[in-house]
Amino acid sequence: MWSKNVSFESGVLHLSGIPAAKLAQEFGTPAFFLDEDAFKSRAIAWNNGLRDQFGDHAGTIFYAAKSFISTSVAQWIEEIGIGIDVCTGGELAVALAGGINPARIEVHGNNKSVAEIDRAVAVGVKTIVMDSLFEIERVAAAAKKHGKRQAVMLRLTPGIEAHTHEKISTAHEDVKFGFSIASGAAWSAVQKVREHPELELRGVHCHIGSQIFGSDAHEIATDRLMEFMARYRDEYKVELPELDLGGGFGIAYVTGDVTVEPSDVLPAIGKAVDDACKKYSLQIPLISLEPGRNIVGPTMFTLYEVGTVKDVEIDSGVIRKYVSVDGGMSDNARPALYGAEYTAVIAQRLSSAPLTLSRLVGKHCETGDIIINEIQLPADIAPGDLIATPATGAYGRSMASNYNHVPRPPVVAVKDGKARVIVRRENEEDLLALDVKE
Ligand code: LLP
Repeated sequence: MWSKNVSFESGVLHLSGIPAAKLAQEFGTPAFFLDEDAFKSRAIAWNNGLRDQFGDHAGTIFYAAKSFISTSVAQWIEEIGIGIDVCTGGELAVALAGGINPARIEVHGNNKSVAEIDRAVAVGVKTIVMDSLFEIERVAAAAKKHGKRQAVMLRLTPGIEAHTHEKISTAHEDVKFGFSIASGAAWSAVQKVREHPELELRGVHCHIGSQIFGSDAHEIATDRLMEFMARYRDEYKVELPELDLGGGFGIAYVTGDVTVEPSDVLPAIGKAVDDACKKYSLQIPLISLEPGRNIVGPTMFTLYEVGTVKDVEIDSGVIRKYVSVDGGMSDNARPALYGAEYTAVIAQRLSSAPLTLSRLVGKHCETGDIIINEIQLPADIAPGDLIATPATGAYGRSMASNYNHVPRPPVVAVKDGKARVIVRRENEEDLLALDVKE
């Protein structure tokens, strides 16, 4: 839940030796604090794990930029030497600004614009993952225009119900993503790609969903995708060289959850690949993965300051303490969107007060602006206390909004006892910058 360089000394949270109160004083609240060393070691663990498991058949770890990206993080990705998965022109722009080698960029998205496709082809990205028949035509046209042969993958829906929240499950049949294997759409896409000499079909891809524990879903997906690769081999007498199994590996948000480590799932995925290769008489393809949440999620916490505390009688004699902090659904939309659960602690002091039923809420004008629906917090919690919520690195800052014209918080990277801003806090000028005065 807490990243590796977070420690508690007499109840006081420290990141890389810096106490919470000092972080708040220097950078303000709310703010995201990123344990840089933890981020890098998680990214390296995936990269090494893939290489150890698959040897010469290891493809690429594409860090899913949607979970969190900034120019500095893109630079780290480049230094570590892994790849990146971008799904919009904006994410591509940040990846390029951070100096990521286009040969390690993979482009996703179910509705890439013609301009986005054009830029991706022009800069020479590694692969574009095809998501619709229209897109195949568009990518072929862009490749022709730039006089290039573009490597592409097909995103397939293998018809798997991953055990995760409905809104973040992506590989059952009734979804907007990819081409269904069962309905024949995937095969039509193969034929369509092959009509275009400007396109080089490298392989197939799937992303089953997000916040998945265990490896069962990835193992089933492996079998279904490789069965499809065998069909391709039977038809065209040549094998597709690449298989990308997407991301989705879960992390611990609350007590009882256990973050998936690469070593927990890679051996099982490796075995599923071997088994499928034997079953369908295929050679082992290059295996790639796209973890986002699993790399960045555990490496950040959000620091808030308590503004008000209110005891509300919710039943006769039952009090719920509403603890309001200076952020909320604008910096963490996940509880409101997915019913996601988090935990929190008072970060700058030890309290020995008894615990009391509390609800951690934000400052937005919505009843649903809840960060933690039910949490036991010390009864002496008061304005001025700092609250830290762990595991907010993925889909926190990246999904932040300006709702109620609240400036989005900064991201502060901390390493070896030193803290520096990598995404600055928005200010009033930023909030007004887009308005056109009549
Ligand atoms: N690859 C593809 C094609 C994806 O669509 C995604 C996530 C990933 C990789 C990375 O998945 P991860 O390893 O981070 O689970 N906003 C939601 C999650 C949406 C994920 C969308 N696609 C949330 O906050 O839970």
